[in-house]
Amino acid sequence: MRLTEREIRIGAPAKVNLVLRVLDRRPDGYHNLWSLMQTVGLEDDLRLRLRTDSVGLRLHCDDPALPTDGRNLVSRAVALVLERAGLSAGRKVGFEIHIAKRIPVSAGLGGGSSDAAATIAGLNHLLELGWSAGEMARVGQGLGSDVPFFFFGPSAVVRGRGDEVAPMTLTGKRWVVLVHPGFPIDTRWAYERLSTTRKGIVPLSKALSGIAEKTALSWEDVIPFMENDFEVALAPTHRMLRDIKAELISAGAEAALLSGSGATVFGVFRDEASAVRAQGSVGQARGRRAFAVRGEGDTLSCRADMSQSLRVG
Ligand code: C5P
Repeated sequence: MRLTEREIRIGAPAKVNLVLRVLDRRPDGYHNLWSLMQTVGLEDDLRLRLRTDSVGLRLHCDDPALPTDGRNLVSRAVALVLERAGLSAGRKVGFEIHIAKRIPVSAGLGGGSSDAAATIAGLNHLLELGWSAGEMARVGQGLGSDVPFFFFGPSAVVRGRGDEVAPMTLTGKRWVVLVHPGFPIDTRWAYERLSTTRKGIVPLSKALSGIAEKTALSWEDVIPFMENDFEVALAPTHRMLRDIKAELISAGAEAALLSGSGATVFGVFRDEASAVRAQGSVGQARGRRAFAVRGEGDTLSCRADMSQSLRVG
């Protein structure tokens, strides 16, 4: 196959967990989950360029706090795709990737996982691999438990370690206000904290099991069921998370919840105007960052194929 030099652009959306139940600990050390995940309208922007005149990856990121070496999930995603595609040795293929980071890091919003998923989807396109969403999810699952979800967004019930993903349709329109408190929470630490603080595992309720049987739900159906097991586990050490949740409710949110293992707390609002007001009031405290965004994000897709404007190698 002859590869042509070209560039594409992909939006990598953030996610929130509308429900996150952490069930039993598995023999591999991970936990079985039950989560309803949803992409929202806050995105990192990735530009991926396939080069036929060089090998290796040149990665650039506008957030200096993020490593651009082999530790970055995007670098790891590139290495994995090339290996699986049988292109790691002997083939003159290189990449230049620019990440414009908008999603807060270590924030429970899946930003790193979404960037990794976008990279896999982008390389699938550039290298014309023809992988299905399921195949891309299998490649990505080793990079992080949230990665498979992003191939099946915008809404899905996620089970197992994060690798069993059942897409669903969430009907209706909402706005969400994401409030990042200004400190990160390490996911592994949060899981350890959860294991040591709880007395036993609360089994999945009949209501949630029932939800999983459906292929479509409305926001009205979901809002009464919103819960996250990490809220109780983190309450003694992170009082501010409860404060933000209470402030979002006071500002008119229909519901507010911690996302993932934190530290972002989000509120669900009926319309843009009330969301923007809450962003201004709850987000103004020192150190916080707040975003008022659509409650329905996009799926991973190529925003623009810029191959026309580039020299064909
Ligand atoms: O897969 P990911 O890198 O996001 O996971 C980070 C950490 O979170 C894991 O090392 C594990 O301690 C914990 N985790 C878990 N069960 C999951 C997902 C993550 O225990 N389903």
